[in-house]
Amino acid sequence: MNNEQICNAVKNIVLETAKMIRRERENFSFQKNVEIKGHSNFVTHIDKLSEQALVERLSQLIPESGFIAEEGTSTKKGEIYNWVIDPIDGTTNFIHGLSPHAISIALMQNNKTIIGVVYEIVHDEMFYTWEGGKAYLNGNEIKVSEYSEHQQALIATGFPYSDMVKIDAYIASMREIMEKTSGIRRLGSAAIDLCYVACGRFEAFWEYGLHSWDVAAGAFIVQQAGGKVCDFNNEDKYLLSGEIIATNANYFNIFYEIVHQHLGK
Ligand code: IPD
Repeated sequence: MNNEQICNAVKNIVLETAKMIRRERENFSFQKNVEIKGHSNFVTHIDKLSEQALVERLSQLIPESGFIAEEGTSTKKGEIYNWVIDPIDGTTNFIHGLSPHAISIALMQNNKTIIGVVYEIVHDEMFYTWEGGKAYLNGNEIKVSEYSEHQQALIATGFPYSDMVKIDAYIASMREIMEKTSGIRRLGSAAIDLCYVACGRFEAFWEYGLHSWDVAAGAFIVQQAGGKVCDFNNEDKYLLSGEIIATNANYFNIFYEIVHQHLGK
């Protein structure tokens, strides 16, 4: 199978899993179905069911592949191929019946992302790309926006909830971004924040304290749509460090400078 065919197969697996998520959500109760993993960090039985279904189907697709999956369903390491899975990115939104929440899947080949699929379940929006192809939303090619100035820029972020060491620097960066740009949104799903940069709804996104499964697929979709992705020091360590900046190509320099100045080394 080539990359496009693998991507199509992943999209089908994701659509089937999303059907199960919607079905299970109908009888959902906070008391019975939510476990607390840490402060503001929740998991539901539906995240776990979703991840089990994804791991099973993706293992059939590439039997020698391994997994980096949020709920730890499989810790198998693949020699060449590894899937990076968030079964529901935006779990807090999901619990409260809010959008967006999404299934996020990346395929790494020797540590390089070659497939990215993010499916927003409420709005039925499938964002996807593969190495050698373009970036798409529901079959239509997407590109980052061309805006280059603060006044034109709408920015996404996520609020930190566990690592409070950098909170003052983060709030200082938010203050400057709030003063200079046309606004900030906090949607509650990093995967979707990235896809919205990719399709030009946002000009930029920054957040720290993330995990590889929150961003691997979305970051690749931004790059394939012509955007830039880096960590707070303009390096490409965002999957490991959990610090990420994603922007359209024209807006990168001035947005990066603000975040780097407050949160970089
Ligand atoms: C969370 C979302 C959220 C971000 C959090 C993540 P989860 O992922 O991406 O936007 O602010 O830091 O943990 O836990 O819902 O998969």
